[in-house]
Amino acid sequence: MSASSLDALAGERVVNETAQEVADTVATWIAAQSRRAFGDHGSFSIALSGGSTPRLLNEILSGPEWRDRMSWNWWNVYFADERACAPDDPASNYHLAETTLLSRVPIDPARVHRMPAERPDLDAAAAEYSDLLTSSLPPGPDGAPRLDVILLGLGENGHTASLFPGTPALKVTDRWATRGLADYEPFDRITLTYPAINAAGAVGFMVTGAAKHEALLATARGEVPASRVRPIDGTLAWFLDAAAAGA
Ligand code: 6PG
Repeated sequence: MSASSLDALAGERVVNETAQEVADTVATWIAAQSRRAFGDHGSFSIALSGGSTPRLLNEILSGPEWRDRMSWNWWNVYFADERACAPDDPASNYHLAETTLLSRVPIDPARVHRMPAERPDLDAAAAEYSDLLTSSLPPGPDGAPRLDVILLGLGENGHTASLFPGTPALKVTDRWATRGLADYEPFDRITLTYPAINAAGAVGFMVTGAAKHEALLATARGEVPASRVRPIDGTLAWFLDAAAAGA
């Protein structure tokens, strides 16, 4: 494989010209996944990621095209990771979701499952979240709880969720959420683990901007944490803009 090829990326690759078009595509994909899940088992569970990329998607989902079209009453919201900060801290992934999506659509707050990463004992908080996943979701093919959809981003160093290169979280295989360690503030995290991510019905990466092209190539070469996202029997899709794809 040439070093400049994304062809070895596992899963489906969908390239749109702009970040706005990527977000539109992902919104449509989420709606289709929610219909599939509801038809299959009468509910829809989705884990959201943080960072800056999801903002545009959340604004589209809570905007005129989808606000009255999505079946929000099917939704059960989880998180792929969370920073060790208060839920009203601008750095919080929950804060991003709350301010740009959850507060604008009729999702029952009782069905939003925040990662309590503000707790002093992050190991206990992660264990509690792992137990919540087990108690509120059906088992996937290898026994890990199965989320219908997990939305992921990709860091420039190839991290995803809060699975950062060279950190202990990469080795956790017997729990579904664990303590993460980032290489930028806030350093301390809670993150889903590979077994939880790879048990998903569908994983969608949203990656935009030229700065992510090298991380995508490294992912395709199997060199970074995102390379190990390989759903056992679920689907994997990469939603890229032309700049990230190097198109
Ligand atoms: C986080 C995210 C993280 C994010 C990537 C990409 O807590 O930071 O979950 O995994 O998805 O770092 O972030 P951007 O969307 O800001 O590029």
